[in-house]
Formats: sequence, C-alpha cells, structure tokens
Amino acid sequence: MTLICALARLSDPGSYGFSLQIGGQAVEGFVVQRDGEVFAYRNSCPHTGSPLDWVDHQFLDIEGALIQCAVHDARFLIETGECVFGPCPGQSLEALPIRVKDDSVYLLSLA
Ligand code: FES
Repeated sequence: MTLICALARLSDPGSYGFSLQIGGQAVEGFVVQRDGEVFAYRNSCPHTGSPLDWVDHQFLDIEGALIQCAVHDARFLIETGECVFGPCPGQSLEALPIRVKDDSVYLLSLA
C-alpha cells in the first residue's frame, strides 16, 4: 500500500489529486470523498486522455455532485466514474484500488 493522503485533507464533498511512482511507473490520479465514502480514479479523461483538473485538486463540479472534466465539460458519477454528460457518454474513468485505514487513504497494488 502506498499513502495517497490523510483523510483530513479531503473535504466532504471534496477531491485531491496525486502523482505517485509505483514500481517505476507514474500513477496520476485523484480521490473523491462524498458522504463519507472515498473513491479514486486515474486523472485521464476517457474523451481524449487529458487530465481533468484545471485547478490543482479540483475535480468536482460547483455543486460537488459530479466529477467534472475541465477540458470539454464531461461529467462523471462520483460512485462509478461513468460519464453522464458531455462528449463521452457511457464511457468511464478508470477506477483505482484504494483502502482507507487509520485516517489515511492508500493506493493498493495495481495489477
Ligand atoms: S478531455 Fe475531458 S471532456 Fe474532453
């Protein structure tokens, strides 16, 4: 397990972007908390592969209801990463395996 951030770093709702080196590979991702649940995805929009954020750590829309890509405004469900609005409907963000333990969020080993 690799530490991503302390749980206290995340608002609820809120998001946090990270860049980690795992086994010599760069993993660019972000975590999102809503209603006490935490989810993580690669920071790569299924539309073009661009990073979603335009401000550091900002991955949610203004209401904190959906993940938003800043490039062409796609919106994704927080719980599943599925695109529900914008240029890539039905496509999904790639989920990353995480564990919340001892008030911190960890990235689990990638397959
Ligand atoms: S790159 Fe994300 S909506 Fe176009």
